[in-house]
Amino acid sequence: MTRPKSLRCRKIRMQKTEIIDIYDPERDRENIKRAAELLRQGALVAIPTETVYGLAANALDAAAVKRIFEAKGRPRDNPIIVHVADPGYVKELARDIPGEFYELAGRFWPGPLTIVMKASEKVPLQTRGGLDTVAVRMPSDKVANAIIKEAGVPLAAPSANLSGSPSPTTAQHCIDDLSGRVEAIVRSHDCTVGVESTVITLAEPVPMLLRPGAVTPDQLWEVLPAMKIHHAVTGRLEENEKAVSPGMKYRHYAPKASVAIVYGSLDAFCRFISERQREGLYAVVFDSEEEKVPCPCLTYGEKDHPAQQAKELFSVLRRLDELCAEQVFVRAPETRGVGLAVYNRLLRAAGFNEIYLEGDGSMKGIVIGLTGQTGAGKTTVSRMLSERGFAVVDADICSHRVTEKGRPCLKDIAGAFPENVITAQGELDRAALGTIVFNDMEKKKLLESIIFPYIEKEIADELNAAFLRGADAAVLDAPTLFESGADKNCNRIIAVTAPKDIRLKRIMERDGIGEAEALSRIGSQLSEEFYSEHADYIIENASDEKELERQVDMLSSRLKEYIAENRR
Ligand code: TXA
Ligand code: MG
Repeated sequence: MTRPKSLRCRKIRMQKTEIIDIYDPERDRENIKRAAELLRQGALVAIPTETVYGLAANALDAAAVKRIFEAKGRPRDNPIIVHVADPGYVKELARDIPGEFYELAGRFWPGPLTIVMKASEKVPLQTRGGLDTVAVRMPSDKVANAIIKEAGVPLAAPSANLSGSPSPTTAQHCIDDLSGRVEAIVRSHDCTVGVESTVITLAEPVPMLLRPGAVTPDQLWEVLPAMKIHHAVTGRLEENEKAVSPGMKYRHYAPKASVAIVYGSLDAFCRFISERQREGLYAVVFDSEEEKVPCPCLTYGEKDHPAQQAKELFSVLRRLDELCAEQVFVRAPETRGVGLAVYNRLLRAAGFNEIYLEGDGSMKGIVIGLTGQTGAGKTTVSRMLSERGFAVVDADICSHRVTEKGRPCLKDIAGAFPENVITAQGELDRAALGTIVFNDMEKKKLLESIIFPYIEKEIADELNAAFLRGADAAVLDAPTLFESGADKNCNRIIAVTAPKDIRLKRIMERDGIGEAEALSRIGSQLSEEFYSEHADYIIENASDEKELERQVDMLSSRLKEYIAENRR
């Protein structure tokens, strides 16, 4: 497996890594002692836990913890979970311990639940990533427990992967990532859970789930009915939003391929795949679906078995890298129970790219038409929407593109019109064609009958490309949205209008024409009443940029609400 470039050039002193076999804490007693001794001396040792393998160091030894960050290439402000073998020890690590802690620990410890509380002075800043809180957990894994007990110190242990690659769920994953970078790796069984622990904070005004894991929201609500789920669990952090948990803001579990989560039936998935055959294409599907899917597949457990999916997921993501996959489509998991953790990790691996399919395998996406009178400022609104994160498809650019040199549409035009409409260079002579169709209704209709289907296809392709990149919606900027009939394919329509005198002035300035010509253009357009009747949103642009920004902000949040409600 090739390493990401930035990590390859990091200065890490290479060393021999000791492999310590521990499968049974009783039988392998001597090896437990060896791992514990190394940890007490300030060494880094990868150890198994029930969730994922962790890269452990003495949590109270700032110098040792600092080396964890170096070995993993981990950002320094990302705090590390402290692992204990006894809930009683938490008094040494946290202060102002709330009653909820005892309820949670009583019910879920030892196990895959990490609890964030106010930190005691004893915990070095390195371990806490500079925060005044500390995250603690007591693993249920017998080997982990025996090592912590024997070491006699709490162990800081993030997942034992290189930062940015999937967490390790087998000893071999640790060896692949960390050989030569750490003192020792404990070779043991595969992890039974497969995704990292659930993280809940008790240091905020209300208990909040920060990272979903094998302890599910339903289970937590039984103990803490007021618990909230942080919105970053199923979405992105807003720009400039402070991360309650620093791990939220980093791109995680990212295979090198471009990954998308795909919703829809298996049949729709197969049709979708069969239209996208290419080298490097892989599908990740549920067990026993692979025979049906027309491309190389990896499976990640049974469809109705989220715990199995959790166990398989990271191995599958690593395997995709080994196979040099370039494009990966993953059958969407259910988000019930542990499924929420599976979805949360996949969503990050996919860079938030989700695709919804219709029954026939075509992509479901929301199309927002943007139109308006000439000179009203449609182009400005289109730019402002694009600045607010909307994908924008420009119908004018699409229509221009279909008549570019070498495109089939141009061939059809050449076949139907006199030779002089194509220049010696093989390009469309727009002026010559204009002269022919300008005064001849029949010829104009002929031209339109050739060109319109191509434009329609070009626009559909552009919209699909936006959906394929993960957009739930795309804005179709089309001056003749209604005239061309494209309004019928839109879920929502925005019209930009402006007072007549303002439009007149803008057209004359923009196109360098006189008042009479500008008036005649305005006259040939749909009326203000038409737009207000047929559009869902009206933007009135009276030439005040600030006011326009305000209207577009409002529009943007209403569109986002609409998209959130209608995307599935
Ligand atoms: O299952 C697990 O939790 C594994 C095994 C080894 O125990 N460990 C693990 O650690 O996943 P790591 O470092 O990869 O993830 C720790 C997560 C990060 O998202 C981090 O930001 C968050 O816990 N975290 C740690 N301390 C925190 C704190 N004081 N406040 C908020 N979030 C914290
Ligand atoms: Mg990690």
